[in-house]
Amino acid sequence: MSAKQLANPLTLAIDIGGTGIKLVSLDQSGKPKGEFQRRETPKLATPAKVLAVIDEMAKKEGGFDRIACGFPGVVKKGVVHTAPNLHKSWANFNLEDALRKKYDKPVRVANDAAVQGYGAAEGKGQELIITLGTGLGSSLFLHGKLVASLEMAHHPFRKGKTYEEVLGKKALDKEGVKHWNKMLREAISNWSSLFNYDHLYLGGGNAKHIKGKLPKNAKITPNVNGIYGGVKLWDDDY
Ligand code: BGC
Repeated sequence: MSAKQLANPLTLAIDIGGTGIKLVSLDQSGKPKGEFQRRETPKLATPAKVLAVIDEMAKKEGGFDRIACGFPGVVKKGVVHTAPNLHKSWANFNLEDALRKKYDKPVRVANDAAVQGYGAAEGKGQELIITLGTGLGSSLFLHGKLVASLEMAHHPFRKGKTYEEVLGKKALDKEGVKHWNKMLREAISNWSSLFNYDHLYLGGGNAKHIKGKLPKNAKITPNVNGIYGGVKLWDDDY
């Protein structure tokens, strides 16, 4: 019987981020079964170093039936293409294979903002998910199904800078919360006319710095959705 066919499979949900790596095992309803763990992302975040941190944490979990992993870059069929905030040695690394071989369990790996979207999307029309963390993640859902993992982060935004250069962690630290909020409002206005979405969800570790009102169709989504989305990643066609 495959992990997808089990009545209540336990999913080891992993969220690899530019600053932190989070992990917990969840039952089919998304209820945590183990300890919610977080470790700093290693400074030189090569595949070997990141996998070693994951292994340390995974050992503390009880058993699990399958793995869902969110990754902060372009991932296609389990293979990493880019990892702007980790290390260049991730290019062409088959993360799905590496995890499958290590744990001998079925594995699904997807872009981190896509996994966050699985956790956040409510299945109401067209939903855009933006994550504000070390980098800027983006994904688009239609009626609860992933349409695309976007790469808005590296798209031009203003004055020769990309969205990530204006709204990523480095810019927030350098320019301060007030300026960052002003830029975020400008970005939201662009995204709204570009995607014409029904709902916008803002997640990621820096969403807590959002101050003031948001447009009616926008709301902050808890960052833990980056982990909880792992269960739903297994429900989709993939
Ligand atoms: C990457 C995206 C990722 C985002 C958030 C960006 O730099 O290009 O793929 O989703 O950071 O981690």
